Amino acid sequence: QSNERCAVDGPRKDCGWLGINDLGCEARGCCWAPDYDSNKPWCFYKSAVASAYDMVSVRETDLGLEGELQLTTSGLPYLGHDIQQLKLSVQFETQGRLHVKISDWADSRWTVPESLLPRPSVSTAASDPLYAFNYQQSPFSFSVIRKEDGDVLFDTTEHSLFFKQQYLELSSPIAESAALYGIGERTRSEGIRLQRDGVPTTLWNKDTAAANADTNLYGSHPFLMAIAEGGNAHGIFLLNSNGMDVVLDKSTISYRALGGVLDFYFFLGPTPREVIQQYQEVIGKPMMPPGWSLGFHQCRWGYRNVQELDTVIESYRAADIPLEAMWTDIDYMDGYRDFTLDKKNFDLSQMRALVTKLHDAGQRWVPIIDPGIKVDTGYPAYDDGIREDIFLKDANGKRYIGKVWPGAVHFPDWFHPGAQDYWTAQLRQFHDNLVPFDGIWIDMNEASNFCQAPGEALQSNGLGRRGLSEAIACSHNISLRLNLEHPPYRINNAEKTAPLSEKTIPVSIVHHDGTFEYDAHNLYGFTEAQLTHRALEDILVERPFVLTRSSFSGSGQYTAHWSGDNSATWDDLRWSIGSVLNSNLFGMPMVGADICGFNLQTTEELCTRWISLGAFYPFSRAHSDHYPQELYLWDTVANAARKALKMRMRLVPYLYTAFKKANTEGGMVASPLWYEFPTDASTYDNSRQYLLGSGVLVSPVLEKGQDHVDAYIPEGTWYNIWDYSAIQGPQTAHLPCPLGEIQVHVRAGTIIPMQQPANTTKQAAAGPLDLIVALPPPGQGVKSAEQNVDQYAEGAVYMDGGAMAVNGPDSFTINFEARVSGQRGRLMAAPTFGGNALTAQHVPSLGNVTVLGVECGSQLHDPFWKEAATFSNVIVAGVR
Ligand code: GLC
Repeated sequence: QSNERCAVDGPRKDCGWLGINDLGCEARGCCWAPDYDSNKPWCFYKSAVASAYDMVSVRETDLGLEGELQLTTSGLPYLGHDIQQLKLSVQFETQGRLHVKISDWADSRWTVPESLLPRPSVSTAASDPLYAFNYQQSPFSFSVIRKEDGDVLFDTTEHSLFFKQQYLELSSPIAESAALYGIGERTRSEGIRLQRDGVPTTLWNKDTAAANADTNLYGSHPFLMAIAEGGNAHGIFLLNSNGMDVVLDKSTISYRALGGVLDFYFFLGPTPREVIQQYQEVIGKPMMPPGWSLGFHQCRWGYRNVQELDTVIESYRAADIPLEAMWTDIDYMDGYRDFTLDKKNFDLSQMRALVTKLHDAGQRWVPIIDPGIKVDTGYPAYDDGIREDIFLKDANGKRYIGKVWPGAVHFPDWFHPGAQDYWTAQLRQFHDNLVPFDGIWIDMNEASNFCQAPGEALQSNGLGRRGLSEAIACSHNISLRLNLEHPPYRINNAEKTAPLSEKTIPVSIVHHDGTFEYDAHNLYGFTEAQLTHRALEDILVERPFVLTRSSFSGSGQYTAHWSGDNSATWDDLRWSIGSVLNSNLFGMPMVGADICGFNLQTTEELCTRWISLGAFYPFSRAHSDHYPQELYLWDTVANAARKALKMRMRLVPYLYTAFKKANTEGGMVASPLWYEFPTDASTYDNSRQYLLGSGVLVSPVLEKGQDHVDAYIPEGTWYNIWDYSAIQGPQTAHLPCPLGEIQVHVRAGTIIPMQQPANTTKQAAAGPLDLIVALPPPGQGVKSAEQNVDQYAEGAVYMDGGAMAVNGPDSFTINFEARVSGQRGRLMAAPTFGGNALTAQHVPSLGNVTVLGVECGSQLHDPFWKEAATFSNVIVAGVR
């Protein structure tokens, strides 16, 4: 170590975070040298400190190659012991997917279990992959290259490989010109394009308000999307659930993880859509939400009793604002005990009557459930958990006591073999014996814990910062693993100095299978969502709806997501778009933000703008922390809500079909503009607009006092969804957008399936199906291979009556194509039915077909739809 020095002039490898001081820096064993003139980090690793391995043997396998790595140079000794012998496994899994895994030779380290997140099994190597994998034996390094253009996507040659007990590091250059996205969850104040500022993005699930931008948040998704100059995209996924920092500076990406193994997947795209599909081949495709969940949801923390819920439901009806589902926060519980009802304010028979009334009106009820089970003998969920030994314990077998809303709680161990049965039984008794809910909202599952990190409390006055009550509730004298509580490398956890265990289940806690919470912490919400989804599959006759706050890569298979505790500010309104888009990037497309803002008192103007936008979130729910802000409370808000939510209702068939596509093919539902227009560099920094499916563009006003929006209109022709006026892209247009309105456009070339607006999706689905056929001007963007087609548009609708199975017996898809040649126009509908029954029984009748982009066409009613129930061609004549 004598050769370690502070090379102030050389390249600096960042060792700190924005705001670290000299003491903090030196405590890390790093160099401190402020530099006011450049972007160089002030706190950086000593130079000449490197860690290297040699590849001492290598052999080819059916899928790629395997090698043995031996440590040759050991660096940064204060970060702990090196693992001497490593295993390299390289698998050419598919044409677009390369799997590179560096693990300990003995295979004894923590990896995300296949039982939780099954990886695709591959038996033969891809024959002509889009990538080349190169390696150097001494010192070992590797690179991943896009064969088509020689672009180097990852290259470890100039960087150390650290593989220590509690510190893994691997870095690569990443083109300065590349636009980068992903790595979250995090409220990104600068928008979704990642800043290359050297500030670590920390992945450590934490209950901190979503309103706190740029800090680690509820979920962890170590997935990065890069778009190179010219539009080629690739993705990098580090499958590792340990706490980590991902650091991006101008030219480098660096991963620093607190454990596990280096399990990398590279996705070669080359389009962003293909990258997402390739990623979802690994983490699982998004769940298909039940159709009703696409309606509008109303929630508030602080509804005091059943009457208040009823008043809200009635007021929505009176105001003619669509309301699909009424939600109930923790207020309904008896002393915040899950699976119980407060006897006084949420009386059982009154609650049942309310839910029956909702169901009779085609509406739904969704309650919240938190993971912490109150420590309380005689309370069934507690007694059952004790009897079945479901709760988390420390290394000495002592049950851990944390503190959440009910006071002292135990946390279920989702890894326990009995956990699924326990959880299903609790939810079932709630559903069958108390109130028949339609979906479940799981919250506080990072897991959130009001207790301080145990060691910390001991270090202070023993009572904890929150005083005596905490000391009583929280078990502090648990068996601690100091190396886990205080790993030698400190990730940039929220508030900088927070120990890993702060406000969560201590990392020394052990799961039933011996896994330390240290390794599995980031999976707590993921596993809860998985178990809850499966429980609902057993309990309900319809497809499950679960909404989770905490997530990990793959959660989208099981659950919807919301962005968490935002605030009623214009910043939060703006940031919500990034959060929705990032969630889509992470495979959780059913996502929204708390409409009108959760914390702080909203304003009429803000709430108006927010519902205009929120009506077009994939998941549309208003929620607040006690503030009454139901949409009917202000006239302006109510008008905006009616307008936007009715349009949402019209679009439900379109949205549902977009979800079906994501569910079967993989992909996003709400996407950044570059998802559809990857070669258009002017879309790369756009976090103010987005697409729903591939054919609807949403351009909201996001600032106070504005009555116009500067909207980027991508290439092609776009039609305003309300007045059908056309606009030609690419251009940035200054569009009028008075309060109460939002700019939404339909892309020429698409056919949008719609229905009539109604209070609920069920009522709407009973009506006819309308179509908007948005034709481009003659000759523009004709996709049809046929000769003599001047104008062409296509679309599809998928419906299944909300059954459990996707593509079940009641389901059907109709593909639509519209062609105009000269004076003749033709609309074709080609149906496929799920199951065997070729019956049109579930197919709605055809309502209005609105053809845009022709000289004399619009509002064409097709008289042949019924006769055409066997679905030969439906011809709409005379469109020109
Ligand atoms: C958390 C949730 C919030 C909920 C509150 C009470 O803060 O994020 O949505 O209202 O807990 O349950």
